[in-house]
Amino acid sequence: MGSRPPAYAIQARSFHDVSQIGSDEAPGGDFNVLFIGAGNVVFGTTEGPWNHSLRFERKLGDRLKVVAVVDPDITRAKKAIEAKSNTSAKVSYEQTKVFRTVEEFATAMLSKDTPRIILVGVPPAFRGSTLPGHNLEQQVLKHLPGIPMFVEKPVATGPVSRTLVVSQEIGKAGTLCGVGYMLRYLQAVQKMKRIIKEHDLRVMATITRYAAAYESISVDHWWDKSRSCGPIIEQATHVADLSRYFAGEVDLKTVRAQTLDWDEEPGFLSEIPINESKIKEDNRIPRVTASTWKYQSGAVGSLIHLAVLQGTDYSCEFEVYADGYLFKLVNPYVKPTLYIRRPGNDIEEVYTFADDDPFYTEVSNFVDVIESGDKRKESNIFSTYADACKTYEFTWAIREAGERSRAKRKARALWESELDESSR
Ligand SMILES: NC(=O)c1ccc[n+]([C@@H]2O[C@H](COP(=O)([O-])OP(=O)(O)OC[C@H]3O[C@@H](n4cnc5c(N)ncnc54)[C@H](O)[C@@H]3O)[C@@H](O)[C@H]2O)c1
Repeated sequence: MGSRPPAYAIQARSFHDVSQIGSDEAPGGDFNVLFIGAGNVVFGTTEGPWNHSLRFERKLGDRLKVVAVVDPDITRAKKAIEAKSNTSAKVSYEQTKVFRTVEEFATAMLSKDTPRIILVGVPPAFRGSTLPGHNLEQQVLKHLPGIPMFVEKPVATGPVSRTLVVSQEIGKAGTLCGVGYMLRYLQAVQKMKRIIKEHDLRVMATITRYAAAYESISVDHWWDKSRSCGPIIEQATHVADLSRYFAGEVDLKTVRAQTLDWDEEPGFLSEIPINESKIKEDNRIPRVTASTWKYQSGAVGSLIHLAVLQGTDYSCEFEVYADGYLFKLVNPYVKPTLYIRRPGNDIEEVYTFADDDPFYTEVSNFVDVIESGDKRKESNIFSTYADACKTYEFTWAIREAGERSRAKRKARALWESELDESSR
């Protein structure tokens, strides 16, 4: 994929140097894990800090036993396992087998190899649906019932209605299922949550600005709405999710959006790293999406996503307002900094969080919940499948509101030009 960050990316910088990760191994027996997907999010990339296998290694040390990697790309899976044989984690991969499908794994699985958690790190087009080939969660529920799942974001790319059916099935099966909205696990985010709870604050508004460095996004499907669903569903999903995390459910009927599109004069981008002319015009992504909505609580939210910056660094800020309070989270992906302004004071307190690794915390919390077997601890999984479906639905509502605005604009322009012609 070259040296540029992948599409969903955040930035090509890490929270900290993941190569320095040691082990927090707690006492206990082997902890079996199944990886589904042998790609970047599971085994890492030079392009970002995500690498779930490293976080499992740090959490479990030699107790980690990766029983298998399921991926139709057998060569990629084998290479990933082979690469581990040169690391201090090699013992965790000595018995790892490779399978093309979940069914093949389940058929061959010995009871001693039963996973205690299944990490689903495949692109969203293959999951979150009830259609064959796009229904990985259903495959897991059918062939490996009862085993907790950790699924990456966003939960799907297909119709929300199908994802809600999957969610119901997961709920009905009683399968514990977390989703990779890792920003919820940032120390800064948890600090904000704590203060809001301690002071019983009512959130009045959330404001998010997410400016991506488009020049760095060289994965062609990111630029094609028919494949990656567009930057709100695929990328701004993280901050849409944070908005819900702080202000609660969105009244979806109130979602409005305006877009600046590729065919409008200010929408021209000079440094697109792919050949956009190969993408059907209707599938090209907006350069700017500006959205507002009401939460069910009455609070107001807004989000502006911009595919506008060059270079590699993104610019991202997330604000939460309550009576007398402003919480401003700056640069959450690279160097999270939290500014807090409190009642009766004009001064902003500033907090930084050295070496905070939310990818580790989300894995660590999930493993602890499984090991404890204590249902009360499940609240330490901050993003559940059912909850993540609401973020998915919300991001679709923003995309569709933007598309409606564009359609109206185009219809009006056509009508005006026809009027012009007939009056000549
Ligand atoms: N939370 C984050 O910050 C973060 C970071 C990176 C990626 N992600 C998410 O992780 C997911 C995967 O991204 P990636 O970069 O690892 O993709 P990738 O393309 O690098 O790898 C995906 C792998 O999944 C395999 N695969 C496809 N269909 C499969 C199936 N049915 N069963 C098993 N394996 C299958 C592919 O062969 C490929 O090896 C995406 O949803 C992405 O948004 C999240």
